Amino acid sequence: MTNRREVTVELGEAAYPVIIGSGVKDELSLHLPAHARRAAVVTQENIGVEVETGIEQRVFTIGDGEHAKVPQTVVDLCEAFASWGLNRNDVVVGVGGGVVTDVAGFAASVFHRGIPVIHVATSLLGQVDAAIGGKTGVNLSAGKNLFGSYWQPSAVLCDLDTLGTLPHRHYRAGLGEMAKYHFLGSGDFSSMQLDEQVAEAVRLKAEVVASDEREGGRRALLNYGHTLAHALETEGEHELLHGEAVAIGLVYAAEVAHAMGRIGSARVAEHRSLIGSYDLSTRPPTDYGFDRLVDSMRRDKKALSGLTFVLDGKDGVEVVEGVGESDLRVAYERLIA
Ligand code: GLY
Repeated sequence: MTNRREVTVELGEAAYPVIIGSGVKDELSLHLPAHARRAAVVTQENIGVEVETGIEQRVFTIGDGEHAKVPQTVVDLCEAFASWGLNRNDVVVGVGGGVVTDVAGFAASVFHRGIPVIHVATSLLGQVDAAIGGKTGVNLSAGKNLFGSYWQPSAVLCDLDTLGTLPHRHYRAGLGEMAKYHFLGSGDFSSMQLDEQVAEAVRLKAEVVASDEREGGRRALLNYGHTLAHALETEGEHELLHGEAVAIGLVYAAEVAHAMGRIGSARVAEHRSLIGSYDLSTRPPTDYGFDRLVDSMRRDKKALSGLTFVLDGKDGVEVVEGVGESDLRVAYERLIA
C-alpha cells in the first residue's frame, strides 16, 4: 500500500479516521464496530467496487444519479434492511460516490433511530467532500438535500485505486469540488500529486467540520459556489453533475463578489483560469433564465434571510447576507456572456 495517509475528524467521542491511499478499502474490516454481526453494503450497479467486511454481508443496490437521491430510496432501503433482520448493533457500509454515501448515511441515521455507517468513497467528489462530515440526505422537488440529517460515519476509506474506475466526466466533475478548496485556502493544488491533493482537501474539510459540525458558522464556507450550483442542478433536472455545477457556481460567486466591489477582475480571472485548467466549463450549458434561478436560490436551504452567498473578499471567503438582486443580475449576465 503506497502513500497511505490518515486524517482524523476531531469530534470528541465521535472522532473518526479518514484514510487515503491505494488499496485502503481492504482495511474495512478493521473499522467495523466490534459488536457488528451483519453489514448492509449499499452501492450502485455501475460502481463495480467489491468490499469484504469479514462478517455476514449483503449488497443493497440503489439506482443511479441524482434521480435516485429521493426519500423513496431511503424508505425502500430501510424496508430491505428490516426484511433482512439488520439491527442497531449492525453496520451500514456505503460504497460509491456522493449519491450513495448521502443515501446510505441518511438510511443509517434513521433505521432503528440510528446505526453505525462506514463509507468507502469511490469518487473524487465523495473523497474530498460528500463522504466526510456527516451531512446526509436526499432531494425534495423543492431543492437539493432538503430532507436529511447529520450522521457522522465511524470511518471513511478513500481508496485512490477506485478513482481509476470512474468515467472521465465524473472524475473531472470531482475537480469542481477540489477547486473550491483552492479558494478556501488550501493553496495551489496544481503542483501536488493526486494523493496529496485529496489528503489536503480532506485535512481542510476535517478541520472545518471539527470546528463547526452543525454549520452554525464556519462550515457554511464549504458551500462556496454551491448556491447557484444547486439552482442549476434543480432547474436543469441534473443535466449537470454536482461538481460541474459547483465549478460554474464558483465562477458566478466570483462575478458576484466583483459586481459588489469585493474583489478585482484579476481574482475573477483566477477563478475562471483554475476551472478552465481542470477542463470544466465556466458557463451553464443552458440559460435557465435569471428570474427562475433566483427563485430557486431563494428556496435553497442556505437562504436564511434574503439571499445569502459565500463570497470572496479582501479578508478571504466569508458568508455575506442580503446580496442585492442587481449585483446578482450583473454577475449572471457576465456568466452567460
Ligand atoms: N459539502 C459541504 C459540507 O459538507 O458542509
